[in-house]
Parts: sequence; C-alpha cells; structure tokens
Amino acid sequence: MSGHRGRHFLQIPGPTNVPDRILRALSAPTIDHRGPEFAVLAADLVDRLPRVFRTSGPVVTYPSSGTGAWEAALVNTLSPGDRVLAFETGHFATLWRTLAERLGLVVELVPGDWRHGVDPEVVHERLTAARARGADIRAVCVVHNETSTGVASRVAEVRPAMDAAGHDALLLVDTVSSLGSIDYRHDDWGVDVTVGCSQKGLMLPPGLGFNAVSERALEASRSARLPRAYWDWGPIIEANRDGAFPYTPPTNLLYGLREALDVLLAEGLDAVFARHARHAEATRRAVHAWALDVVPLDDREHSASLTAVFVPDGYDADQVRRLILDRYDVSLGAGLGRLTGRVFRIGHLGDLNDVWLAGALAGVEMGLTGAGVPIRPGGVQAAIDHLAATAGAPEAAGAAG
Ligand SMILES: Cc1ncc(COP(=O)(O)O)c(C=O)c1O
Repeated sequence: MSGHRGRHFLQIPGPTNVPDRILRALSAPTIDHRGPEFAVLAADLVDRLPRVFRTSGPVVTYPSSGTGAWEAALVNTLSPGDRVLAFETGHFATLWRTLAERLGLVVELVPGDWRHGVDPEVVHERLTAARARGADIRAVCVVHNETSTGVASRVAEVRPAMDAAGHDALLLVDTVSSLGSIDYRHDDWGVDVTVGCSQKGLMLPPGLGFNAVSERALEASRSARLPRAYWDWGPIIEANRDGAFPYTPPTNLLYGLREALDVLLAEGLDAVFARHARHAEATRRAVHAWALDVVPLDDREHSASLTAVFVPDGYDADQVRRLILDRYDVSLGAGLGRLTGRVFRIGHLGDLNDVWLAGALAGVEMGLTGAGVPIRPGGVQAAIDHLAATAGAPEAAGAAG
C-alpha cells in the first residue's frame, strides 16, 4: 500500500516472510542443471532435506504447490476404487478429499465440527468397522495442522491406534503448515507419505512440493495403478541418486531451499519448534485477554503455527482484516469455507521473533478497536508479559536438529 513505511507484516499462515539471506540466495545466477555445480547442490538437498521430516528415507521434491504434493502422494500409492479414510477437520482436509475423489478414490469422510482434530479412537473404530463390513480401507489421510482452523491433530497417536485395530493401512499426512514449525517425525510416527511445501515453515516462496516416502509406500508404489507420469516417484528418486532431476528443476528455489536448511538446522529443529510454541502461547494469551475465542476446543490441539480468532456475532472478520491492512500494513489470514467472515487467522510461523510478533499483535489490537469490535484492552500486554517471562527459555539452548 502506498503511504506505508517500513516493512509489510505478512502475518498470514503462509506464504511467510522470506528472510533476506534466503532472498539473496534465490537471486544467484541460474546454472546448468546438468552440470557439476548443480549436482553438488542436488546431492546436498537429497542428504539434508530428510532431516526436516525426521526420516532416513527419500524425500521427493516437485516444482509444485502443496496441492501437487497431495496428488503425488495419492497417485503413487493407490489404485482406482481404493477406499481411503479422511477426517473433516477443516477447509484443507475437505479439499484433499475432493482431490482424492476426482482421482477415482472412494473417500470415507468422518464428519467434523472444524474445532477438533483427528481423534485416534475414531481411527480405530472406523478401520475396524470398515473391515467388518467388507469395505477395507487402504489409506488414512490426516492433515497435521489445519491451516483454516489452527487445530493440530495428534499424529503421533494415529499409527498406534491403527496398530491396535490390527490394521496396516498406509498413513498419509499433510504437513503443509506444520513442517519446520511443529514437532513432526515421519519415521518414529509410522507415516508412509508426508506431504509438505516450501512457503510456510521453510520460509521460502511458494513453488516446491514434497513427499517424504517410507519403505512401505515405495513398496505400494510398485503395484499402485492410479495413472501417473510427471508425479511418479521412481524416475525422480533414481535421477536424484546422480544429483539430477528427470525434468528441468527450479534451480533458484533449490538455492533458496539450501539456504533455508542452513538456517533451520543451525537454529536446531527442537529450538525452532519451541520458538513457535512460545509465540503461539503468547498469541493465545493476547486473544484471551481481548475476551475473544480461538477456534480449537481441545487444549491438546492448539496449533503452534497459527491462531484462528472468532470475531463476535454481528461483526465481519473480513472488514476487520481490511482495516488492519489499510491502517497498519499487517496482512492477516481470511476465514475459509464455513468460517468465512467469522474468523481471522494470525500466522506466527517461519521467520519471526518476539518483537515482530508483538508488533503484529499491536496491529491486531488497534485494528479491532478501530473496527469497533468490543474487546477488553490488554492483549498485547498479556502477550509481551509472556514473551518477557519466557525470554531465553528452551530455544535459546539451541538444541540439535
Ligand atoms: C494444510 C494445507 N494443506 C494443503 C494446502 C494446499 O497447498 P497449496 O495452496 O500450496 O497448493 C494448504 C494451503 O495453504 C494447507 O494449508
């Protein structure tokens, strides 16, 4: 917006602020993607990217958004008519379901109120019931962090629930808005395909999609019959072994990815997660001090990467967002799907520090007041009290990534 000075506050839950050093890395000259310099870059990414997913298996990188990576996860592992179990945790889970149906899969959707995550007990019940009626489930799809609601599902508890049902379905997890922001362990949690992308916790522009792939998923891909060509993991993993891609790779985004890995791994993943959790707690304290409500109803399911905030009945969240953008140059996330106009979303993921967060919350508090929303003052104070009281806490130790 003209007239604003200083930096724009991009506080949507992705794309996130891209650090200057990553912007500089992105602007390096494009090189021959079949030459020796590129092979060194690719080999480094193949080696280090899996650490972010906490896997020792391969991670396939696509020039795509997260939606492409969803499609890749499904077409590489499943066949026409396969049944998948999905959960209506919010807007993005609903979109993933639609995509699966368009590919010819049969989706059993567990309805939800958009205020709760996936209940591991329901996973157990649904798998058992489907098997009993002869309609076995081939894959379970879970969105780790619902970007539309700020509800984070307890993915660590899903595979144990599947095991307790004696079921070996594939587990496919969307980490689009949790990767590099919220604790996630592809191997330890028994996930088969993890879907990720570049524009959120990895602090990159949009344009890269990822699939982390388990041994079982690779095995499944050998017999899966959904049509696939460009998305086929096989030729990509094969070419990656020689530091190459079977198509022209997005060289400059890959420079950015290398830089992002340097940044994340130097801070240490555990420290990154602790920083996000602390900023999320400060944000919730602000919201509660304003006497407003957040979307999640279960205290175990608060997202560390964004907070979705209800405006009181009779107020329009989009109008509040517009005013905050116009007056204070702060972009907030819109309510999506059934939450349109009812919530605004504060993104607190990626490249963020205490003062930056406090500034964003100040913009929100001034904007709510300016829009005439009846709030109690003191949200920013509550947030900075928490930030001050916990400054130098766990993340300062810089745990190993
Ligand atoms: C949880 C989640 N899954 C999937 C997507 C779709 O990703 P993309 O818009 O990059 O295709 C998004 C987008 O924000 C998301 O938040």
